[in-house]
Amino acid sequence: MIKCVSCEQTYDDDKIVYICEKCGSVLEVEVESNVLKDVFSGRKLGLWKYKEFIPVNYANVVSLGEGGTPFCRCDKIGKELGVELYAKVEGSNPTGSFKDRGMSVGVTKAVELGVDTVGCASTGNTSAALAAYAARGGLRSIVLLPAGKVALGKLAQAMFYGSEVLSINGNFDQALESATRLANEKYIYLLNSINPFRLEGQKSIGFEIIDELDWKSPDRIILPVGNAGNISAIWKGITEFYNAGYIDEKPIMTGIQAEKSAPIVEAFKNKAYNINPVENPETVATAIRIGNPVSYIKALRAIYDSNGYADSVTDEEILSAQKLLARLEGIGVEPASAASIAGLKKLIDEGVVDKGERVVAVVTGHVLKDPDVAIKASTEPIEVEPDFNQIKTILEKNKLDS
Ligand code: F0G
Repeated sequence: MIKCVSCEQTYDDDKIVYICEKCGSVLEVEVESNVLKDVFSGRKLGLWKYKEFIPVNYANVVSLGEGGTPFCRCDKIGKELGVELYAKVEGSNPTGSFKDRGMSVGVTKAVELGVDTVGCASTGNTSAALAAYAARGGLRSIVLLPAGKVALGKLAQAMFYGSEVLSINGNFDQALESATRLANEKYIYLLNSINPFRLEGQKSIGFEIIDELDWKSPDRIILPVGNAGNISAIWKGITEFYNAGYIDEKPIMTGIQAEKSAPIVEAFKNKAYNINPVENPETVATAIRIGNPVSYIKALRAIYDSNGYADSVTDEEILSAQKLLARLEGIGVEPASAASIAGLKKLIDEGVVDKGERVVAVVTGHVLKDPDVAIKASTEPIEVEPDFNQIKTILEKNKLDS
């Protein structure tokens, strides 16, 4: 059953509805499962391992093997920061971001509903995932992207998987307004995170974290926040496992935004339940360059209900954390994903995060999504003739310089 998170009005699962017709608030799919957790043992890690908690018929599934992403203990950064740190590496999904989890369920739902066209607005990753899963599900797909602001890897994916790509002369929030209008006029089945079935896939990040920690909750989950769907989804997943009696405690949910795109952080600092949208959001982390997040109600609830926290980081802090993850741990992420590590560092410095905490940082997208930023942050290759002595001289000089 679909239920409004504010007025609790309910809708049938097969009704195409994105916001509550009664009060205008956001919706979620109510899921309850009473299976014993033994049912999961022996199944391969991934989104569909937990199919009893996913509200579509498994027989119809449109999948590319999403989820089951690496859960890497990061001892070097952890030691530097004084915490037990794990990275949930979502860049290892089929199209390189966590959006694949949501699209697997979202496109499966689209197929079940019998729609022929799916669409979204996107800062890039949602469109890449939508394009791939729509192709796999045999559906037409339309994506609306903010012109000139989508990282190259993501744009290439959306185009190459065969989506119809519209470049909107405006920002993400404006593109989403148009996509919503297209959905309301039934041109597309909207697969932005306002669609509650999308989040049903993404909640599996929470399931996998619990599973990887041997059915225990970490002290804290920290992640970047843009349109605010993912933090809401992970919290929903964790809460479902808690309600099923699989875990006794829940983590502190911690959302990180970029300094000039941080309406949720502002609301949190004011202890508010509403946001003031940011008119012209800016950040190098283009994935989270969002001023009017649609899932802010759910995200703020996740933060307040978990005794959580929200803070912002500067572009410099993001880029330096991105480099640190790559150089110290070998984990290559796009800038938005590094906001989680940048935020963790800041909150440790400020004493918000305690020493010794067990922290899971969700790193949301692959470094190759944004090759321009990666190249700009690196030293240029040294040009050399295919001459062994010349190569040796350069390497010896490099060694002395380092
Ligand atoms: N990290 C990455 C790499 C993202 O692509 C996004 C969102 C987020 C974090 C934030 O997640 O929106 O659920 O709070 N990208 C969307 C997109 C908006 O269109 O690809 P959120």
